[in-house]
Amino acid sequence: MKGVILAGGTGTRLQPFTTILNKHLLPVGPYPMIHWPILRLRNAGIDEIMIITNKDDLSSFIKLLGHGEELNVKLHYKVQKNKGGGIADALVSAKSFIGTGKFVVLLGDNIFEDSLLPYIEDFKEQKIGARILLKEVKDPTRYGVPDMDTINNRVVSIIEKPHNPPSTYCVTGIYMYDHQVFTMIETIHPSSRNELEITDVNNLYIKNNQLQYNILAGWWIDAGTHDSLYKAFQYINEKANGEEIN
Ligand code: DAU
Repeated sequence: MKGVILAGGTGTRLQPFTTILNKHLLPVGPYPMIHWPILRLRNAGIDEIMIITNKDDLSSFIKLLGHGEELNVKLHYKVQKNKGGGIADALVSAKSFIGTGKFVVLLGDNIFEDSLLPYIEDFKEQKIGARILLKEVKDPTRYGVPDMDTINNRVVSIIEKPHNPPSTYCVTGIYMYDHQVFTMIETIHPSSRNELEITDVNNLYIKNNQLQYNILAGWWIDAGTHDSLYKAFQYINEKANGEEIN
């Protein structure tokens, strides 16, 4: 299975740092943020990885990571044509790299404790469709939030940044898809914030009865704000201790 890490976007919530530096190159513990999702994929046995970023930032990623020799992975790069055009828009750039197989997508600003291995095993057993990972959070309004049918273990729908969250869970930036995702993206339209939303894609999978989920067991952080970046730094330093690098 291949992996895709999205490392574009505008990083508005992390200004002024992101005025001069791509968010995913900011420090989280002893390494730039982008190292952690790469390691999560590698430690789950995924070593063919595409990083998708903005045109202006590409050279910095290549300077930092090269072809992935130091981290023992094979890195490929692609530029997102519409900077800030949305997560689903960014994903389109991975189409030819993925081909027809199933794959894992990580948002580059998601820092988390769990190994992806058991979740990927579940996804391998799934013949078709998508799998998302959920996490209970204090402030669901910041995220995509699932409306859950807990009796039947189903997600009924997902609402992006709802004012009145239907549950206390959020959809994390860890997604697993089959190749249908690319045709689904072609059918969606920009949202009110002018982005192609991954939530719209996931809702299409729900409509087709093809979306499954797991709930993450360990800590999980979307490091996209000053507060959460600080928290991610602390978690990595205290709990991961950088040991996975070797
Ligand atoms: O972290 C989980 C949340 O991530 C989900 O719960 C939401 O459903 C999902 O929409 C997303 O919300 P955010 O508002 O946090 O997304 P953000 O704009 O911060 O982008 C998340 C990552 O995706 C970030 O690492 C950069 C990358 N990205 C984003 C956009 C908009 C791109 O590569 N290209 C883009 O155009």
